[in-house]
Amino acid sequence: MDAKFLHFLSLIVFLIHFSTAFIPQDNYLINCGSSINTIVVDNRYFTGDFSENGSSYLSEGKSISLTNPIPASNSSVLYSTARIFTSVSNYKFNIKNVGFHLVRLHFYPFSSQDYDLKNAKFVVSANGKSLLSNFSAQFTILKEFILMVNRDELEILFMPASDSNFAYVNAIEVFSAPKDFIIDEGITLISPNEIQDFKQNISSKILETVHRINVGGSKLTPFNDTLWRNWIPDEDFLVLKSAAKIANTIHPPNYQPGGATREIGPDNIYMTAQQMNIDKRSSNFMFNITWDFPVRSEDALHFVRLHFCDIVSISLQTLYFNVYINGIIAFKDLDLSLLAFHELASPIFVDFVVQSSDNSNIVRISVGPSDLSNNLRKNAILNGVEIMKIVNPVGSEKTAKTKTIWILVGSVGGGSFVLSLAILSTLLVLKCRRKPEPRRVESTGWTPVRVNGGSSHGTLLEGPVLGYGLKIPFADIQLATNNFDKNLIIGSGGFGIVYKGILQENLRVAVKRRVPGNKQGLPEFQTEITVLSRIRHHHLVSLVGYCEEQSEMILVYEYMEKGPLRNHLYGSGLPPLSWKQRLEICIGAARGLHYLHTGSAQGIIHRDIKSTNILLHTNYAAKVADFGLSKSGPCLDETHVSTGVKGSFGYLDPEYFRRQQLTDKSDVYSFGVVLFEVLCARPAVDPLLDREQVHLGEWAMEWQKKGMVEQIVDHCIRGQIKQSSLKKFSETAEKCLADYGVDRPTMGDVLWNLEHALQLQESEMQIESQAETNLSPRFVPGVGVGVEGDSDDVSADITTSRVFSQLITSEGR
Ligand SMILES: *[C@@H]1O[C@H](CO)[C@@H](O)[C@H](O)[C@H]1NC(C)=O
Ligand SMILES: *[C@@H]1O[C@H](CO)[C@@H](O)[C@H](O)[C@H]1NC(C)=O
Ligand SMILES: *[C@@H]1O[C@H](CO)[C@@H](O)[C@H](O)[C@H]1NC(C)=O
Ligand SMILES: *[C@@H]1O[C@H](CO)[C@@H](O)[C@H](O)[C@H]1NC(C)=O
Ligand SMILES: *[C@@H]1O[C@H](CO)[C@@H](O)[C@H](O)[C@H]1NC(C)=O
Ligand SMILES: *[C@@H]1O[C@H](CO)[C@@H](O)[C@H](O)[C@H]1NC(C)=O
Repeated sequence: MDAKFLHFLSLIVFLIHFSTAFIPQDNYLINCGSSINTIVVDNRYFTGDFSENGSSYLSEGKSISLTNPIPASNSSVLYSTARIFTSVSNYKFNIKNVGFHLVRLHFYPFSSQDYDLKNAKFVVSANGKSLLSNFSAQFTILKEFILMVNRDELEILFMPASDSNFAYVNAIEVFSAPKDFIIDEGITLISPNEIQDFKQNISSKILETVHRINVGGSKLTPFNDTLWRNWIPDEDFLVLKSAAKIANTIHPPNYQPGGATREIGPDNIYMTAQQMNIDKRSSNFMFNITWDFPVRSEDALHFVRLHFCDIVSISLQTLYFNVYINGIIAFKDLDLSLLAFHELASPIFVDFVVQSSDNSNIVRISVGPSDLSNNLRKNAILNGVEIMKIVNPVGSEKTAKTKTIWILVGSVGGGSFVLSLAILSTLLVLKCRRKPEPRRVESTGWTPVRVNGGSSHGTLLEGPVLGYGLKIPFADIQLATNNFDKNLIIGSGGFGIVYKGILQENLRVAVKRRVPGNKQGLPEFQTEITVLSRIRHHHLVSLVGYCEEQSEMILVYEYMEKGPLRNHLYGSGLPPLSWKQRLEICIGAARGLHYLHTGSAQGIIHRDIKSTNILLHTNYAAKVADFGLSKSGPCLDETHVSTGVKGSFGYLDPEYFRRQQLTDKSDVYSFGVVLFEVLCARPAVDPLLDREQVHLGEWAMEWQKKGMVEQIVDHCIRGQIKQSSLKKFSETAEKCLADYGVDRPTMGDVLWNLEHALQLQESEMQIESQAETNLSPRFVPGVGVGVEGDSDDVSADITTSRVFSQLITSEGR
C-alpha cells in the first residue's frame, strides 16, 4: 500500500526539517547616489540609483549624488556614496505583493567639500505616512520600519526641514515581509492598568525597530539572518548579570508548522537562550531574570515580540515559568511544550503591545519560575526579544491629486510641517475614497494564533492524501452528541473534549472535539487523520471520520466500551483485572504496535505509548489509540528520525531525549513502562511517593535487577500469577527498558514473549526450567489464541505470521 502515503509522511518530516531561503516578491535594494551596482557582504545585490535602471525609481525634486571623499575602509561600500535632496524628492517602487513590507534606510553622515551630512535635518515619509520627522544623524544609523502597503506603489519621500537645506540617504531596502509575519488579531495589550486585547490594527500603524536581541547568543548580521536583520547580544541589558546563565544547543531548532518560522527567527536565535543561574544547592531560590531595554519616554506604545524555544529541558512538561512585562504578568505558568505542539526545541513567539507609564524610559522584561515548578527543577528561559515602536502614522495615503499639495506644503513651510500635515491629513481622510481593507488572516480557534503567529491552517488537509469519504457533516455530529451534551462527556485531553455519541445506524462513536481557542492541535489532527485513514488493524482504534467545518476540528472514532487501560489498573475503583486479562490486553496492544512498526515499508512510530492510550473494547480487547504524535519511521538509509522530544512524562525513552533521535525502540521503551504499570498497578510517575519510587520505570527495574520483582506486584493478582509467567513478563519489561535502543527487543519479540508468558500462565504442565529456553518452537502453535476475535481479522493474522518469521531469525530475547 501506501507508497504515496509514505511519501507524504516523509514530506512532512522533510518540511519540518528543511526550508528554502526566503525570496521576497518585492525586493528593491538601492545603492543611493551611486552609478554602480554592488554586491554587499551579505551577498545581496544593490542597484545604483544613478544607473539607467536605478534612476527609474527616483522621481521628482532636485537631487545630487555625492561621493565620500575619504571613504572609511571598514565601512560598507553602500556608504561611500549618498543621494542629497535639496527639495522634496521621492523614490517610487512598484509593489506586486500587497501586505507588510520592510523598509530600511541607511544613513552614514560623511562630509564633503559642499555638504556635511551631519547638518542635514529632514522628514521621511512612506506613502504619505511619516517615518522620520526632524531627523538628523551624527553617526551611522540604520532605520528599519515594518509597514502595510495596500496599493501597488510605495513612495518614499524625503523633505529637508526648514532649518536645513538638504536631506540625504545612503541606501534603501524595500522588500515584502513573509506571509503571516505580523498578524493583527488578538495581540495582548499590557498597560499599567490592565491587560486586554489590543483593539487597534497593527496594519494601520508603522513599526520602527528599536531593539532586536539574540538572548544568550552572539551578534548576528544580515549575513547570517534570513531577513538580513541585525541581532545583538542581550548582556548589556541584563539588570543583574549573575541571575542569568547562557544555554545553548548544537541541534538546529524543530520548526513546526504553526509555530515560528525561520524567517520569524533564524536558527541562531533559537539555539541560544538565557536561563536561571541556579545550581543544585540554590535550587530553592526564586528569582527573576530581568532585562531593561531603553526606549524614548515619549513613545508610549511598543510592539514586543518574545521568542522562546525550550532547549533546556530534557523532557516535556518539566518547565513552567512566568513572563512579566513592565512588572505585569504577561504569561503565567507558560508551558512551552504545550504551546510548541509537544516538541522540545520547537520555536514559538508571542506578540504583545506594551503601553508604558508616563515618563518611563525602559521596557522591562522578566522571566521567572512559576509555582507549578514546585516539584521540578526551577527554570525560566528567553531566546529572543524584538521591541518596535508603534508609530501612529501622521498623514494618510495620498492620491495623485494631493501630490501637488504636498510639494507645496513642503516648500512653503517646513517648520510648521507637522501641524500642516495633521490638518492636511484630516482633510485628506475626508476627501479620499475608502481604501480597500488590507487582506486579513482568518482567525480561528484552531491555530495558536497569538502564541506563535499562527500560519494559516488547513493546507495539509487539502489534496488527495487524506481519506475521502471520512468527512462527516457538523450537523450529524451535533445530532450524534445531542449537541455536545455535557452528560455525554467521557474524557478530555490535550486535544479537547471527548463525547460519547451515536451516529446513524446505531453506530456508537467517541467524538473528540477540539476546544475552540485551544492553543494546539492542528498538526496532531492532521497526523491522526492521515495515519488512521490509511491504517486499519484490529488492535488500532479506527477512525470513523472527521469534521472540519468553520472553526471546528472533530475526530470521530469507534467507541471503546471499557475506556482506557489505566482506569482498570488503578485510581477509578473499577474491579481489578485478572492476570490473564492483563496479559491478553498487553498482547493486543503489542500486536497493534507491532503492526504500526512493521505493517508498512517505512513503519510508523507512535511516540506516545501510555496506559491512557491503550483503550479497551467489549471483552477487554485492547486497541492502541491517539496517533496525533506519530511519525513515519526511518528511511532506508537512516537509522533514526531526528526530531524534537515528544511524548509523555514517565514514558519517555531516555535515549530519545539524550540524542533527540527517534526509533521504533522509543515506543518499545514506553511499552515497557506500561508493562510494569500493568504488573504493579501504579502510575508511571507518582510525585507523591518517595524519591526512589517516583518513576515506575526506575523503581521497578531496581526490584527486577535484585530478582525480587514479586515484591512489587499488584496485591490483587499476587495469588494468581505463576512464577514462570511473572518471570517471563518481567524479563520482557526489563529488556524493553534497556538504556540503549539497540539493546531493546523489537515489538515482534515483545509480542512473542508476552504470548509465551500467557502460555506459561495457562499451561498446567509447564515446567519452570523450560521457560528458560524461551524460543522453543513448541510454544508457537498456541500463540494467537490470547485475544478474542482475532481470527476474523486478516491484518492481525498477517501480523502474527510476521512475528513468527521474525522469531525464526531473531536471537530471541
Ligand atoms: C538594466 O536592466 C537590464 C535588464 O532588466 C539589464 O540587462 C541591464 O544590465 C541593467 N543595466 C544596469 C546598468 O544595471
Ligand atoms: C571604522 O574605523 C573607525 C576609525 O578607525 C572607527 O571609529 C569606527 O568605529 C569603525 N567602524 C566600524 C563599523 O568598525
Ligand atoms: C522640528 O524642528 C523644528 C525646529 O528645527 C521645531 O520647531 C519643530 O517643533 C520640530 N518638530 C518636531 C516634530 O520635533
Ligand atoms: C481593523 O481591520 C478590520 C478589517 O480590516 C476592521 O474591520 C476593523 O474595524 C479595524 N479595526 C480598527 C480599530 O481599525
Ligand atoms: C555570522 O556571519 C559572520 C560573517 O559576517 C560570521 O563571522 C559569524 O560567525 C556568523 N555568526 C553565526 C552565529 O553564524
Ligand atoms: C518577578 O517579577 C515580578 C514582577 O516584577 C514580581 O511580581 C515577582 O514577584 C518576581 N518574582 C520573583 C520570584 O522575584
